[in-house]
Amino acid sequence: MAVQKKTSPRKSNTVRLKFDTAWPYSPAPESKSAAQIKPQYDLFINGEWQKPLTKKYFKTINPASEQVLSEVADAGEADVNKAVNAARAAYDKHWKNMPAKERGKYIFRIARIIQERARELAVIETLDGGKPIKESRDFDIPAAANHFFYYAGWADKLEYAFPNRRPEALGVAAQIIPWNFPLLMTAWKIAPALATGNTVVLKPAETTPLTALTLADIIRESDLPPGVVNIITGAGNTGAAMVNHPDVNKIAFTGSTEVGKIIQRSIAGTDKKSTLELGGKAANIIFDDAPIDQAVEGVINAIYFNQGHVCCAGSRLYVQESVAKEVIRKLKDRLESLIVGDPMDKNTDIGAINSRSQLDIIHKYIKIGKMEGADMYESSCKLPGKGYFVRPTMFTNVAQSNRIAQEEIFGPVLSVLTFRTDDEVIEKANNTPYGLSAGVWTDKGSKIFNMTRRMKAGVVWANTFNKFDPASPFGGYKESGFGREGGLHGLSAYVNLRNL
Ligand code: NAI
Ligand code: MG
Repeated sequence: MAVQKKTSPRKSNTVRLKFDTAWPYSPAPESKSAAQIKPQYDLFINGEWQKPLTKKYFKTINPASEQVLSEVADAGEADVNKAVNAARAAYDKHWKNMPAKERGKYIFRIARIIQERARELAVIETLDGGKPIKESRDFDIPAAANHFFYYAGWADKLEYAFPNRRPEALGVAAQIIPWNFPLLMTAWKIAPALATGNTVVLKPAETTPLTALTLADIIRESDLPPGVVNIITGAGNTGAAMVNHPDVNKIAFTGSTEVGKIIQRSIAGTDKKSTLELGGKAANIIFDDAPIDQAVEGVINAIYFNQGHVCCAGSRLYVQESVAKEVIRKLKDRLESLIVGDPMDKNTDIGAINSRSQLDIIHKYIKIGKMEGADMYESSCKLPGKGYFVRPTMFTNVAQSNRIAQEEIFGPVLSVLTFRTDDEVIEKANNTPYGLSAGVWTDKGSKIFNMTRRMKAGVVWANTFNKFDPASPFGGYKESGFGREGGLHGLSAYVNLRNL
């Protein structure tokens, strides 16, 4: 990475956009009545709610209002030990020897109950995490149910997934997830682990524990044998205790590259298996032969979806020089028409930033972008007086070496760069420490194949972005981590393959 020169911000490089919408939408708030959030949650261990041995609880808030929603248990080492022991006992007693067809039935049941309780889960997800209700309702919760359905189908067909091999479960999986897709990440972790015959201790992120805890209730309702899935809450120390527990066979982690590296260091020399899904700085490339309007909409979806709290967000846009002016003009118009505000309003496109600390990170990078001399555009929208909000922001005239083009911001901030030739854009797109995803917009199939072959990214979308399917593997190159989730690849992360 190039050395940064410190410059002072130019006053003239910030533009607040102005766009007159003739008829603003009237508010259409979703009702909170579907969600029954308890004032306090204990730890879900061995099929029952257990008080934390630490006797400590911490609060989870609604980032859109800064109001406390509930308090959840803060699991210490002894609690982690209890959960791992419960998972081990369940593995030995029930799960290891259960016929695969029976295992599959439980997973199907969980999927069905998620569907039945979809509205409640969507409301809780939005209240606890700040994402727009239309996303939790139309994407997160249905995708979580789909994931359970998909892996339920594999449970009794593993011999076809791994022909001529004998797949064996690993044992107890410790699973640690972030706050950007709380229930969906829970599903990505639990479903393939159960389908392959493992038992689980899962920890949601400290700012968004409530849908995973509601899933604990769903798991009880499904009659899954006690201890097969344990859900415990806490922050980094709880996660570290899970990683370091000697009786854990597998670590599955999604989160920051920094913590991913800590985890790798702490399991070095043990026989624990691991998959790490870490950060990203995806390149989204628009060629001059692309359908520009669709591409612009795709770029908006790629970076402003879920407030940019997406590890595979298309946060670097490369536009071919000849169409750059048109694309940037259209992006500015579209930026200005995005609806920012109450996540519970069904019209909202951009909800609340997940936490105060993430808001600070985003503000820090906006400042860095200005210092680096890029031109900044932000929507003129009014932000709510309370809660953690930021205007959707776009930087143009960004240099490849700028920090806003190299580092993960994890917010609704787009960096726009230009290019002339295929070779140039490949070189630039691959020039980051990350390699999780990328996007290509062009009319030519041959160009798509050429680009996807040369791009060092785990997922490359063509003429679309941020599309997910349980059958399709997801994961990164380089500092974006290793291992794949989803599809057949996702199964292999939870088994040892023996010869017949
Ligand atoms: P984080 O990596 O600290 O948190 C993710 C999960 O790991 C949480 O459940 C947390 O409690 C747990 N954790 C924290 N320290 C741990 C440790 N030492 N051992 C085991 N588990 C531990 O991410 P954070 O601080 O919330 O976000 C910081 C930055 O990370 C963001 O600004 C963003 O750039 C990136 N990030 C990337 C995500 C992705 O999906 N790739 C998700 C969340 C954050
Ligand atoms: Mg919260």
